[in-house]
Amino acid sequence: MILVEEKVKMDSREATITLGEKIGQKLQAGDVLVLDGDLGAGKTTFTKGLAKGLDIPDIIKSPTFTIIHEYHDGRLPLYHMDAYRLENGGAEDLGLEEYFDSDGVSVVEWAEFVEDELPDDFLAIHFRRTDDENKRVLEFEPHGDHFVQMVKDVVA
Ligand SMILES: Nc1ncnc2c1ncn2[C@@H]1O[C@H](COP(=O)(O)OP(=O)(O)OP(=O)(O)O)[C@@H](O)[C@H]1O
Ligand SMILES: [Mg+2]
Repeated sequence: MILVEEKVKMDSREATITLGEKIGQKLQAGDVLVLDGDLGAGKTTFTKGLAKGLDIPDIIKSPTFTIIHEYHDGRLPLYHMDAYRLENGGAEDLGLEEYFDSDGVSVVEWAEFVEDELPDDFLAIHFRRTDDENKRVLEFEPHGDHFVQMVKDVVA
């Protein structure tokens, strides 16, 4: 059930990181966030902000070649996944449920390729480029009360 959808414009890379940080501060054990949008739309940039909000000191790099990067030095573990290379299938073999059911936070870029594995509650964020190369539109689609509240608190 989707109760609120919010669209916000991020005028700079820094704005996207700051929004990610605010959400990162509100994340709880077991939360799942799924990010989609074109190459360079800002998914990894946003995840850098999430990590900051989780007090993770490491530099977040795109996990494209390893699929999953784990960070254990923050308030909660962060599992950062990039499903881009799964466009031809293979998501079933990754054991994603174990991550989704864990006490960490899972963030999946290119989540359209793991759609079948998603839990009931999750926060989807759609990233879109604009004519201005420094501006992005982020559309929030929360599933479940916890994420609906989060979107109300942070974005609305
Ligand atoms: N408003 C903005 N928000 C986010 N990133 C921005 C913005 N304006 C410019 N950028 C730039 O756009 C790029 C976004 O790259 P990023 O790696 O975050 O995208 P991505 O969606 O993860 O791409 P990929 O699909 O390749 O993983 C960065 O170079 C960032 O500096
Ligand atoms: Mg990325």
